[in-house]
Amino acid sequence: MRKRHGSYGFDAPWALTGLFFGAVILLALAAFSYGLDILAAGVAFTLGGLYTLASAASYLYTTRRGKFVVWAAELRRLEGDERLLDLGCGRGATLMLAAGRLAGGRATGVDLWSTKDQSGNKEAATRANAVAEGVSDRVEPVTGDMRELPFGDGAFDVIVSSLAVHNIPDAEGRARAVGEAHRVLRPGGLLLVADFQHAPAYEATLRELGVTDVRRRDLGWRFWYGGPWFRTDMVEARKP
Ligand SMILES: C[S@@+](CC[C@H](N)C(=O)[O-])C[C@H]1O[C@@H](n2cnc3c(N)ncnc32)[C@H](O)[C@@H]1O
Repeated sequence: MRKRHGSYGFDAPWALTGLFFGAVILLALAAFSYGLDILAAGVAFTLGGLYTLASAASYLYTTRRGKFVVWAAELRRLEGDERLLDLGCGRGATLMLAAGRLAGGRATGVDLWSTKDQSGNKEAATRANAVAEGVSDRVEPVTGDMRELPFGDGAFDVIVSSLAVHNIPDAEGRARAVGEAHRVLRPGGLLLVADFQHAPAYEATLRELGVTDVRRRDLGWRFWYGGPWFRTDMVEARKP
């Protein structure tokens, strides 16, 4: 993976802060318990604190590096002239990796720019990253809701999404987003949706829409948001 020049923030920064604070509080309680000679409580708090600290380290690794490594590998299959759409692109972690491989193509990112879902999230930050990565000639950030995409049917050859669809709070909304992705993808086009929740539901929605070439796979430890219980699956589909 080539060196990054943009600035991509942290996914769900409140979750990462919570894990670090949780670890500090548990380790402080451990020290307090040892001070009072309550050994069993001290050991329990120490184990809890170290476990929470390890979860924070895993989360930090994934949001700052792991997801970039995984997506760089996933996007190696791009041929260079595709029209690609990133659903919930945020500051452009996946979008810029894709754009770097699309010398003759176009990378569009759609987002609502929620700062709860990603720190420093705004369209201007995504545009600045496109300039920093030297791909501003082929990157287009668009403000929009993935449940109602402002694009025509079959407008894209490839659609990607990373850790974004789960942010839609209701199952019906998430199904609508997957349906919209299916609508704006051209026949024969490729859909890659990575998420740490609801991936089986995305797969089921695609099957209901008549997509038979669809599978789900675990993206491995580099995409753990805190541990294997918060691992990320990739739903990969080819529109008939
Ligand atoms: C955890 S961030 C991930 C951003 C980016 N894909 C990445 O991997 O760095 C989730 C993104 O989804 C966006 N998002 C949430 N709900 C959305 C919706 N209904 N339509 C478009 N974007 C949405 C948020 O604003 C945020 O940028």
